[in-house]
Amino acid sequence: MKFHTYGQEGERPLWEAVEGQLREKRHRFHVPAHRAVPGEYWPRFDLTELPGLDQLFAPDGAIARAQELAAALFQADRTYFLVNGSSAGVIASVAALCRPGEVILVPRNCHRSVAAGLIFSGARPCFLPVPESPLGFPLNVAVSQARSALAGSKPGPKAMVVTSPSYWGVCARLADLAAESAGAGCALLVDEAHGGHFLFHPELPAPAAGSGADLWVNSAHKTLGALTPGAYLHLKERGRVDRERLEAMLPLVQTSSPPYPVLLSLDLVREALQRRGRQVFEEALEKAARIRRQLRELRRFRCLEADQLPEEFGLDPLRLTIYWNDLDLAGEEVQFLLHKEYRIEVEMAGGKGYLVAVVHPGLPAEAGEALVAALKDLEQRYRHLAPGSPPAPYPLPRLLMTPREAVQSPSRPVPLREAAGEISARLVAPLPPGIPLLYPGEEISPEMVRRLMAELEKGARYQGLTASSQPEIHVIAL
Ligand SMILES: Cc1ncc(COP(=O)(O)O)c(C=O)c1O
Repeated sequence: MKFHTYGQEGERPLWEAVEGQLREKRHRFHVPAHRAVPGEYWPRFDLTELPGLDQLFAPDGAIARAQELAAALFQADRTYFLVNGSSAGVIASVAALCRPGEVILVPRNCHRSVAAGLIFSGARPCFLPVPESPLGFPLNVAVSQARSALAGSKPGPKAMVVTSPSYWGVCARLADLAAESAGAGCALLVDEAHGGHFLFHPELPAPAAGSGADLWVNSAHKTLGALTPGAYLHLKERGRVDRERLEAMLPLVQTSSPPYPVLLSLDLVREALQRRGRQVFEEALEKAARIRRQLRELRRFRCLEADQLPEEFGLDPLRLTIYWNDLDLAGEEVQFLLHKEYRIEVEMAGGKGYLVAVVHPGLPAEAGEALVAALKDLEQRYRHLAPGSPPAPYPLPRLLMTPREAVQSPSRPVPLREAAGEISARLVAPLPPGIPLLYPGEEISPEMVRRLMAELEKGARYQGLTASSQPEIHVIAL
């Protein structure tokens, strides 16, 4: 009975899963990029806010100084160390920028932390459709679209969020977007979670630093080598952000026990980047360029290049979005085959299909060769098909109540296949990349039901839907 309730003696399922992964040598094209930080002794540093070690939420000593040095490097007036990822920075920023009912422009390629910010703040989103790539993922927000939304939204928006780079490495034209939002008296928050490295090499896309943004976040754990979930929130004071309010929000969305190993890694990464950031990313760029050259020799797999994007968008050369459309393999199938048969881990995969592989500074040269060889093998092993047509973009749902009103309303579960016409009480987002397809408060269209059912049948996993053969969704009980 005891074993039935408590499991086998000595059972440590998560430890065993992680140990099992680490036991074999694997090529890793995913974040985090743990290379800049010496990483052997972290438990020793697992201290707490002792005398002399400062306080994260009222810093006036070592943490204050470390944050000041980070602000100087990232060209900000203030930098805040985040121990709950960029997510915490985004939520606190949205809440600092908007009061209940105030309008914020939100492109549809935003991460779910923006939705959490909407729920936390009570802000009213005005959604901007984002053009889709023929490969089935969103590109980014165009300046002309932002301009007309800024002009057309009544009452005028308090803030605009831009996610750049996107999960697929597609970058928006930040300086122009900043000029547009400043012209409308609106603050710009840039979610640069995946682009912390842009500042360190001129061949990388233009960073949020220096673009005119008011606030921006970098997941230092994703591309800079800090421990998960260490991140930076940067503030440039241009009179559009109430700093006191921002600082009041940050402790509300983070743990009250800040992990010192994470804080330390944020300090060490900053120091290492200051000394040799350019060299670190020079090497990474060379590795990525080599892999891109080798991928051009494949017949079915292609790698997204900047010149395939509409002119106004940039591309992070370190993110390889590899796609195919004439092989009988979906994105998730290729990811699984790479994992199982070739010991290669990629960041994500999807559609019919593509995968995203991240080149980080510490990637061994043989990893690129292993990836190209594995894909070459797959294109020979699997049946070739006539090229498929790109999926139709999702229709933009109607927002019938604010996300906060929706999550606070009574709700009931209904089978997804019967949910058309209802209002979603939950955020529905594929994992990864965690970009909501439905926000709480949005109407569920028949087309949305069909698309979600089809994706679930292919094995996709969603936050906000129960995983079963009869998936359910919570809708507003009116
Ligand atoms: C675009 C984007 N923004 C924000 C986040 C959240 O970052 P973090 O994991 O540091 O909280 C993610 C996470 O994947 C993301 O993809």
